[in-house]
Amino acid sequence: MQANELLDVVFRWAHLIAGIMWIGNSMLFNWLDRNLIAPPSDEAHRLSQGKIYMVHSGAFYEVEKKLLEPGQLPDQLHWFKWQNFLTWLTGICLLVVVYYMNGAAFLIDPSVRAMSQGEAIGLSAGTLVAAWVLYDLMWTTIGRKAPAVATALSFALLFGAAYGFTLLFSGRAAYIQTGVMIGTIMTGNVWMRILPSQKELIRATKSGQEQDPTLSLRAKQRSIHNNYLTFPLLFIMISNHFPSTYGHFLNWLVLFAVMVGGAGVRHFMNVRYAGKAWLFPALAMAAIGVAGMMGVTRMREAPAVVIEGDVDFARASDIIQKRCVSCHSAQPSDPQFPVAPGNVVFDTPERIVAMAARIKDRAAVNKTMPFLNRTEMTEEERAALAKWVDGGARLK
Ligand code: HEC
Repeated sequence: MQANELLDVVFRWAHLIAGIMWIGNSMLFNWLDRNLIAPPSDEAHRLSQGKIYMVHSGAFYEVEKKLLEPGQLPDQLHWFKWQNFLTWLTGICLLVVVYYMNGAAFLIDPSVRAMSQGEAIGLSAGTLVAAWVLYDLMWTTIGRKAPAVATALSFALLFGAAYGFTLLFSGRAAYIQTGVMIGTIMTGNVWMRILPSQKELIRATKSGQEQDPTLSLRAKQRSIHNNYLTFPLLFIMISNHFPSTYGHFLNWLVLFAVMVGGAGVRHFMNVRYAGKAWLFPALAMAAIGVAGMMGVTRMREAPAVVIEGDVDFARASDIIQKRCVSCHSAQPSDPQFPVAPGNVVFDTPERIVAMAARIKDRAAVNKTMPFLNRTEMTEEERAALAKWVDGGARLK
């Protein structure tokens, strides 16, 4: 195993665990908030916001949500902040290991835009910082007086950035870059806005002052943003497995559809406890996301080359030997891939035929293979492979 792959697996594993803890916590607290049983409206329950009993791991949990009397602060207070920070940190480590190192090979796609490793890393890191600064500025200025305008601008920023990334980076990296941007904004919200306002709450409780409701409201606002961003973010994190999405020529449109659908599902899960109808609207939003993804990925670019006549196996096999087996072989010759990626090998005619549908998809439809077109496959060869598959992928 090469050092790169080792770091990749270690950070990815840690990232997944931290992410489950972070998002899991946040979903649990959301659930708690919405399931609290309202307290009686007497003086004894003045500070209570509700209570809930739960059963788990062999005993009962009695949880009450409340504000504290001045001076009542317990010695031990759990914050739930490191789950978020570790998710973000391991995510950034992954970004560096997978997309920045190795000449930024996964980040740059010369057919999208040719650039040097330094330029690519600068653009990626720079836009991440800029996105947070812009978003935060929007909400600390316009957002205070006109939240509706700030919301509209935030959508424009999100969709504009996602679209912009598809013009700069490889499709796969553009998706991840959008995900890292969302994750960075969420982490900024937690550390720069939500935690400070919770500290202020604690300070006020300690010194017996009135708690400033606008601070709490502001924290809540950022919390809601994070809540809506989770589902779109999680799709992006698994999108690497789906080349039909990131490899599509309208990949940004696929992403828009999924982001709208995902945030929509979250919305109706949120309103669930306000007693509103939620299941069918949530399913409808999921359907919109999935239908959007299917609809867009079915669109095809006009073929660049039209192949006359039939394509036989000999010709298809020639192309694959020339363009694919440097990586997809039991003994790959490409130094970056000491083992065949994805376990896919094209060493025998039977293996080629067995993989025909995937070959067409990756080499001719979304053109995400050969990897970064390192073997310089031509449009004519892509069209020929597609024609061979369309003709029944026969061995003659
Ligand atoms: C430079 C190395 C390289 C070359 C050349 C290459 N691939 Fe790949 N291939 C990869 C890597 C890396 C992966 C795993 C990542 C991914 O799926 O995007 C992969 C995965 C795949 C997969 C499995 C995933 C799936 O979608 O089912 C298929 C099929 C595939 N390649 C087909 C091809 C074909 C067809 C060619 C030639 C036209 C080709 N590859 C050329 C590196 C290469």
